[in-house]
Amino acid sequence: MSVIDAIKKRRSNGMIEQREVPRELIEKLLDAAVCTPVHYNTSPWRFQVLTGEARNRLGKYMAQCFVENQADPEAPAVQAKIPVIEKKALRAPVIIVVAAAKSDDPRAIVEEDVASATVSCQNILLAAEELGLACIWRTGAFTYGDRMRELLGFDEGTRLTGFMYLGYPKKQPPQVERPTSDEFTQWLDK
Ligand SMILES: Cc1cc2nc3c(=O)[nH]c(=O)nc-3n(C[C@H](O)[C@H](O)[C@H](O)COP(=O)(O)O)c2cc1C
Repeated sequence: MSVIDAIKKRRSNGMIEQREVPRELIEKLLDAAVCTPVHYNTSPWRFQVLTGEARNRLGKYMAQCFVENQADPEAPAVQAKIPVIEKKALRAPVIIVVAAAKSDDPRAIVEEDVASATVSCQNILLAAEELGLACIWRTGAFTYGDRMRELLGFDEGTRLTGFMYLGYPKKQPPQVERPTSDEFTQWLDK
């Protein structure tokens, strides 16, 4: 299949079985994830592969970030949401946390390293499609705060770019008509 066809055909799929995914397949995805353009060769990509019990820990962190952001953490409505949020990390057997590390290179530009790690997320989606795996890129407000970074144990200055939920598909999402670029594009020649 051509690269353009693969890009157009790719669909996010959150309908994921709990069946274990072989480590070799996950490694293939990660090897694709580090093939992104990157400025100054900073190698910003950082990944955590969460499976099994580690997903429960992520669920707890997600709930913790949510609670800490509430004006009244003890409010019954807030407390009622905790178990719901905690379960969200169990929606797939594998979650790949994608992040951009802060570079020591004085020339490095944070936005560019974050951009490179963001492209890793797309590479993971495309590679998953080829390997017959379902994958969806998920985030949430907690993604961009420092607290989740700290709870997950990434170094200071690391910026999270996505939580890639991954596994075997329960079913395939329908194909969709992709937009064309005309309405988003200006062509300038003067
Ligand atoms: C940075 C980013 C964060 C996203 N976060 C979520 C999310 O938390 N939950 C969700 O259902 N979709 C999220 N999405 C959207 C889906 O992953 C998906 O791309 C979208 O529904 C379009 O479907 P498609 O990828 O099949 O074209 C996010 C997309 C991006 C780029």
